[in-house]
Amino acid sequence: MTLTETQELQLNHRSVRRFQSRPLDPGQLESLIRCGQAAASSSFIQAYSVIRVTRQASRAAIAKAAGGQVWIERAPEFLVYCADLRRVDDACRRSGSGELEGYTEHGVAAIVDVALMAQNVLLAAESQGLGGVYIGGIRNDPQVVVDELELPALVVPVFGMCLGWPDESHEVKPRMPVEFVLKQDVYRDISDTDMASYDDRMAAYYASRGANVKLSDWRRATAAATQGKKREHLLGFLNRLGFFRR
Ligand SMILES: Cc1cc2nc3c(=O)[nH]c(=O)nc-3n(C[C@H](O)[C@H](O)[C@H](O)COP(=O)(O)O)c2cc1C
Repeated sequence: MTLTETQELQLNHRSVRRFQSRPLDPGQLESLIRCGQAAASSSFIQAYSVIRVTRQASRAAIAKAAGGQVWIERAPEFLVYCADLRRVDDACRRSGSGELEGYTEHGVAAIVDVALMAQNVLLAAESQGLGGVYIGGIRNDPQVVVDELELPALVVPVFGMCLGWPDESHEVKPRMPVEFVLKQDVYRDISDTDMASYDDRMAAYYASRGANVKLSDWRRATAAATQGKKREHLLGFLNRLGFFRR
């Protein structure tokens, strides 16, 4: 089947962490954000805000909190994507239907909204030759982000994103076979043989890629990544900002 240009672009995605010093073109960021805003939004709540971080001191503090990710300091643009229920809460109060009260449903809707929005931004950026990387590392110590960016209640930093003109080009990371994720009618687990064959593919990729070569496979890398990122503070943090209270 012939792929559209958009599909080619999507299949060509790879995260970029090293950038040229060249800034984005005038108006380019605003146009990318508009593309982000064009994403679907649950009940049209548009529950997100994006903070463009230009203060170098804030970038340095966030980079440190994110485990020393230097690209946060060096990228031409660093954005923090927030799930933002403030406007929604205000709308509810004004309409007389009361405050949001931290229902899990609203928190989930806001986090889904911001993720869809951000992916639209990244794809639009990639369509213009820019590159970028998400930064979940900001959740290591999200209070640092709150303090640096003066985030009020009901505004939760979900992830960051570095953007700029790429100064590196990695190979595309092999995704799981479609059959692993597209299931028909009912859920079926993937057999161990099939998982092992994907592990072999990933092991070959990790062993031969241009940078950050490592001896691992998908299951081992995933176990290490998830066990290393338990972030036990997260629920308490979200509760304090008014998310997932009930
Ligand atoms: C929500 C989210 C958070 C991420 N956080 C980080 C991060 O903190 N640092 C980083 O270098 N990459 C981060 N990544 C990038 C992933 O590691 C990357 O997307 C994945 O390994 C697949 O590689 P690819 O994007 O090059 O295809 C994140 C990706 C997502 C979607």
